[in-house]
Amino acid sequence: MVHVVDHPLVQAELTGLRCRNCPGPEFRQRLRRIASLMVPAVTASFETKVIGCETPLELTSGQELTRRIILTPILRAGLGFLDGFFDLLPDAAVAHIGLARNEETLLPEPYYIKTPPILAESEVIVLDPMLATGGSAVEAVRRLTELGATHIRFACLVAAPEGIATFEAAWPEVPIFTAAIDRGLNDRGYIVPGLGDAGDRLFGTA
Ligand code: PRP
Ligand code: URA
Repeated sequence: MVHVVDHPLVQAELTGLRCRNCPGPEFRQRLRRIASLMVPAVTASFETKVIGCETPLELTSGQELTRRIILTPILRAGLGFLDGFFDLLPDAAVAHIGLARNEETLLPEPYYIKTPPILAESEVIVLDPMLATGGSAVEAVRRLTELGATHIRFACLVAAPEGIATFEAAWPEVPIFTAAIDRGLNDRGYIVPGLGDAGDRLFGTA
């Protein structure tokens, strides 16, 4: 299931960030704001339980989240989404998954994985701005599933139809949240119109 977060603020930030002249600091700030703006949609179905709460005036009841949240950026570009999610989910733990897409084969090559203990009840949110061929996202979810995750969702900024199809074929039960679905991939596996290489733009490595 794909959810497009088409809030006007998200779309306006995304348009500014796509622009080739958007400088690095502005790119990072816009990405962070979009991430925060996406949190309500991504977490809308999280379970809560009723708890007691004592206000200065009387006892009442309220809610708290039932499950531990694990934010999982796919390195590197997923880090650009992390702080925006942290801003609204400060108690979350973080799992890092390092995958580099081989520019010849377009296949993801793992180079670093460090996760907190993942329980079946953990709410795992995988973060990566770009869903291109889908190879990286599919591999990240495979690793997390091997480690015991059963509640996973994937949040990205721009998705290609090819990547969505590949991801949904591999992980039909994992919902995708994206700010945009673009036209497709070019012959080098880049999303068009896209925004170029998200990791390079975030970290100035172009
Ligand atoms: C980019 C992007 C995704 C992946 C998407 O990362 O951040 O992880 O490519 O492509 P795919 O859907 O075809 O797998 P890249 O591997 O370039 O690494 P980087 O984040 O370090 O730049
Ligand atoms: N990775 C990116 O950063 N951008 C793309 O368009 C495709 C993969």
